[in-house]
Amino acid sequence: AYVVTDACVKCKYTDCVEVCPVDCFREGPNFLAIDPDECIDCSLCVAECPVGAIYPEEDVPAGQEAYIQLNAELAKTWPSIVNRIAPPADHADWAEVKDKLRYLER
Ligand code: SF4
Ligand code: F3S
Repeated sequence: AYVVTDACVKCKYTDCVEVCPVDCFREGPNFLAIDPDECIDCSLCVAECPVGAIYPEEDVPAGQEAYIQLNAELAKTWPSIVNRIAPPADHADWAEVKDKLRYLER
C-alpha cells in the first residue's frame, strides 16, 4: 500500500484525494491517512502532493517507518475524504518543517 508520511502533518493539502480511484483516503484533524486494505497501489496520488508526502510502503524514508502502522491504525476510525478542501491557514509555515509526528492530532 501507499503511505502518507511526515510532510503531510499540518499541511494537509488534500490534492491527493481527488485522484484516488478507490477513495481510500481518510481525514484526521491535521493529517490524512491511506487505508492499506483499500489502496490498489496505482501511485496516482504521489504526484499530486505538493510536499511529496506519499510513498509506497517499501520506500518510506528512513526514520518515518512509524507512519506505515499509523496509516493503518488511523484509517480504521477516520472518515473518508474524496473532495479537496482548503489547507490549514498556516500550511506554508509547516511545508519545510521536518519531524512533525509530535504535532499529529488524533
Ligand atoms: Fe489511492 Fe492509488 Fe494513492 Fe493507493 S496509490 S492511495 S489507490 S491514489
Ligand atoms: Fe497530505 Fe499531500 Fe495529501 S499534504 S493531504 S498527502 S496532498
